[in-house]
Amino acid sequence: MGILTGKKGIIFGALNDKSIAWKAAEAAAREGAEIVLTNTAAAMRFGTTKILGEQLQAPVIAADATSVSDLEALVESAMAHFSGQFDFVLHSVGMSPNIRKSIPYENINYDLMGKTLDISALSWHKLLQVLYQKDAIRKGGSVVALSYIAADRVVSGYSDMADAKALLQSITRNFGHIFGKERGVRVNTISQSPTMTSAGSGIAGMDKMFDFANKLAPLGNASAEACADYIVMLFSDYTRSVTLQNLYHDGGFSSMIVSAEVL
Ligand code: NAI
Repeated sequence: MGILTGKKGIIFGALNDKSIAWKAAEAAAREGAEIVLTNTAAAMRFGTTKILGEQLQAPVIAADATSVSDLEALVESAMAHFSGQFDFVLHSVGMSPNIRKSIPYENINYDLMGKTLDISALSWHKLLQVLYQKDAIRKGGSVVALSYIAADRVVSGYSDMADAKALLQSITRNFGHIFGKERGVRVNTISQSPTMTSAGSGIAGMDKMFDFANKLAPLGNASAEACADYIVMLFSDYTRSVTLQNLYHDGGFSSMIVSAEVL
């Protein structure tokens, strides 16, 4: 439909063709956007971000989202590439070393928890702050991060990622308030269904959780492709008055307690 025609933006987190960010980059390009892709240098070595860059004719720039200097260099490069301000950013970044090492929540390692919070939540504040300080986003622009329902309700096994997502949503409201008031920029999170990606598959019991959510949600789990379409809509002008929100994209799961099928 070309709803992003003339728009430009940065997409974080496309590791492989299962990544939500990968689908979002394809959908944004399909809708007419120009894109810069970014991921960590390590992810670019082991993942396939560069292949996506070639497919979409998008520059791929390495940046660690926890490093303010990397984010500054990335935003400067994007502004040079786009010849000025741009319109959207997707933060599709998350990782918990405690989950990776199967350390239970009640026995958590606090150094690792600090890393979880830095990668999965503080990076969001750092990104917003760099974008704000560099006045990188055009008025009416849209910045989106990905969350999960464990920010609001208990999902056993989600461990310190639940705390990270709660902080991510809080930063969305608090920074979004300033970005909206001062610059007319929208800031939202999308709370996505369980999705079979590298990050998703790392959660203990993911297969069962995926099946449970799929049964409970009246529309079933939302796919990564459907999430990409929702992200594109949030980047577009059709959502120009939507900000400071955590938007459930989960087939209705978040409003359910029980269904005949699950019983
Ligand atoms: P993914 O593993 O494909 O993407 C995660 C990305 O984060 C990877 O590209 C990885 O390289 C990047 N990353 C990790 N540390 C980084 C750092 N320091 N700097 C920059 N990038 C870094 O998995 P997925 O599922 O596409 O994850 C994207 C987002 O969606 C994450 O925020 C995740 O928590 C969220 N989400 C995922 C769900 C799922 O079930 N897969 C459900 C709800 C939300």
